[in-house]
Amino acid sequence: MAYKATLIPGDGIGPEVTGATVRVLAAAGAPIEWETVHAGRKAFEETGIPVPENVLTSLRTNRIGLKGPLETPKGKGFRSANVTIRQELELYTGLRPVKSLPGIITPYENVDLVVLRENTEDLYAGIEHELAPGQIISVKVSTRSAGERISKWAFEYMRYRGRRLISCCAKPSVNPMSDGAFVDAFQKIGQDYPYIAQNTMPIDNVSMALAMDPTNFDVLLLQNLSGDILSDLCAGLVGGLGVVPGANVGDRIAVFEAVHGTAPDIAGKGIANPLAVLMSGVMLLEHIGERAIADKVNRAIWDVLEKGEHLTGDLGGNANTKTFTDALIDAL
Ligand code: NAI
Repeated sequence: MAYKATLIPGDGIGPEVTGATVRVLAAAGAPIEWETVHAGRKAFEETGIPVPENVLTSLRTNRIGLKGPLETPKGKGFRSANVTIRQELELYTGLRPVKSLPGIITPYENVDLVVLRENTEDLYAGIEHELAPGQIISVKVSTRSAGERISKWAFEYMRYRGRRLISCCAKPSVNPMSDGAFVDAFQKIGQDYPYIAQNTMPIDNVSMALAMDPTNFDVLLLQNLSGDILSDLCAGLVGGLGVVPGANVGDRIAVFEAVHGTAPDIAGKGIANPLAVLMSGVMLLEHIGERAIADKVNRAIWDVLEKGEHLTGDLGGNANTKTFTDALIDAL
């Protein structure tokens, strides 16, 4: 059986890294038929809309998608294309597994964290007003129902994956209502899971503790903005943005994408690391139950990283996107 999945190549390095991913997954025998649609800058230039309706329709129909990074046109009053997709499709969980990889030297070994980010609220609601010239307010949205929804998802994920400790990180001392609602929701849902260790920590404290020893953490549950920031921090702990995959998951639809953005500084040079998007593709395979092929791709990734002969520049090597991808296909 072939699965139909939506492919959004994305902007900047997006087409390079999603192209590499499609090649590797095909070489691994992944039975996926891609339906390609465009969002972001490319879509905006062609249609005047960053997320055209056909993108949402395709994802609503296929229920699974792989997405390259998107650039949001600036200064036109548009919502971020990424935020639009997450909000329109209610992809309320941002899932980012952060794991040490072989052959990538970092200050810590054995990092194995999962960052869970509430994807639909917080300052990403995009509500900003200029009250008076130079006096701006941004609205931080926090509903108890959204806090409970992602907390439930988090505990169920942990149960299924055998994860043991969840840390809910926020700043209720400064925002007792918005952050307080998030923490309250977490604690309420947590009562149903007494067999999973749980704590709440101030987000600033967590940042320091992660830098000092990330192996003390297991699952981090965060609001939207702090989840965005800590995802990048955690990526830095295991080798950078080139090696951390992710998914935006709702009750019906899941869109897989790397943590990184369009990397305009290296776009078009053919040197981007495709691993983060490829690993997101592996997560897609796991999501639909194609574990054997997912494992096969993972073994090829492990093999190439361990040998260290074909690493991209961000990992200290001299390979480019194509030679790295070729090495992965050879390893398969
Ligand atoms: P970025 O992640 O694009 O780049 C940060 C740094 O990491 C750059 O030096 C870049 O070269 C490097 N980098 C990122 N991915 C890499 C890869 N695969 N291989 C090698 N090096 C890599 O973040 P930045 O510069 O803040 O954002 C650029 C654009 O991307 C912005 O328009 C932003 O809105 C958008 N963006 C989109 C995201 C998405 O679609 N999910 C997420 C983050 C940013």
